[in-house]
Amino acid sequence: MRAFLLDGYGAIDDHVKLTDVADPIPGRHDVLIDIHAASLNPIDFKIVRGDLKRVSKYQLPRTFGFDASGVVLAAGAGVTRFRPGDAVYVRASRETIGTFAEKIALPEAFVALKPANVSHAGAASLPLVGLTTLQGFGKVGARAGQRILIHAGAGGIGTFAIQYAKHIGLDVTSTTSSKNADFVRSLGADRVIAYDRENYLEQGGGYDIVYDTLGGAFTIDAFKVVKRGGAVISLSGPPDRDFARREGAGLLVRVAVWLMSRKVYAASEAAGGSYCWFFTEPSGDQLREIAGLVESGAIKPVIDREFAFDQLPAALAYLEKGHARGKVVLKMK
Ligand SMILES: NC(=O)c1ccc[n+]([C@@H]2O[C@H](COP(=O)([O-])OP(=O)(O)OC[C@H]3O[C@@H](n4cnc5c(N)ncnc54)[C@H](OP(=O)(O)O)[C@@H]3O)[C@@H](O)[C@H]2O)c1
Repeated sequence: MRAFLLDGYGAIDDHVKLTDVADPIPGRHDVLIDIHAASLNPIDFKIVRGDLKRVSKYQLPRTFGFDASGVVLAAGAGVTRFRPGDAVYVRASRETIGTFAEKIALPEAFVALKPANVSHAGAASLPLVGLTTLQGFGKVGARAGQRILIHAGAGGIGTFAIQYAKHIGLDVTSTTSSKNADFVRSLGADRVIAYDRENYLEQGGGYDIVYDTLGGAFTIDAFKVVKRGGAVISLSGPPDRDFARREGAGLLVRVAVWLMSRKVYAASEAAGGSYCWFFTEPSGDQLREIAGLVESGAIKPVIDREFAFDQLPAALAYLEKGHARGKVVLKMK
């Protein structure tokens, strides 16, 4: 099969290569998927740059990419839920990345039947952003009636999170540039703050939850607008102090995490709010839940651009610019 291999860390054009490799062989509990479409996430270009090499140690060269939608070609002897011919979608784990390829073998526990009412491109756009949102909202117990600030409402995470937050009954404020304000409103946001016209810190606070997709100053400043007892879920800030324990990290990493996060914890203690950071995990069960939301019309995939399979380097460079409107998808078929 053809697959993109990452052969070193650095510039996309230097290290992302389309190569002929052996087909993956499914293990006892794996399904082998013929990939029709994959979607890109910022973590993909961060892996290429080597930003995550301390956390996820990869042996290079290797395949990469988290999200895919396709058709089951074969199933291991221990697989109970899927058969050849099933249309499925999936998010790989950090250890099993490899969806920028024509085929992938993944544990059936990661896989779900794809939503029947969307294309493979639409289904491939959903897993990582959907699971991140379900898992993040679950960690802080998001519930109807709460007020949430979702940063970067026009991005991959934001376009899913706004729709999901409205579905479960939250009041949503979201930030974006003024060119995307109407688009973000059309996703269901109750209030939109255009960051190129207004400073969100001057537009009131008292949020129960801040969903921080931007990191840096946005993570610390989240505690200026979250209410006492509220929660900041960060996807891009420093790891929370529980992270090193969850990862089974040694003393050096625990000290490094403590140092990286000390300003955030100082802000969180001063504001009386909580701080939560996590890496999304694969979950076939939650993908089944997301498929139900898509089939009921509560969530619609939002695709900015589709690239042909062999255009992965251009697609990664486009996403890296940081202004995608929804998701960027790679089409194998
Ligand atoms: N920890 C985890 O497990 C996890 C999981 C998923 C994602 N993440 C991280 O979460 C971050 C967001 O992911 P994503 O997929 O949403 O990225 P993305 O799709 O690349 O986000 C692009 C969006 O960001 C918006 N944006 C840029 N600057 C902004 C600003 N100052 N204020 C408001 N909006 C702004 C852009 O809107 P405009 O064009 O209008 O500026 C654009 O629509 C990434 O860093 C990713 O790595 C982490």
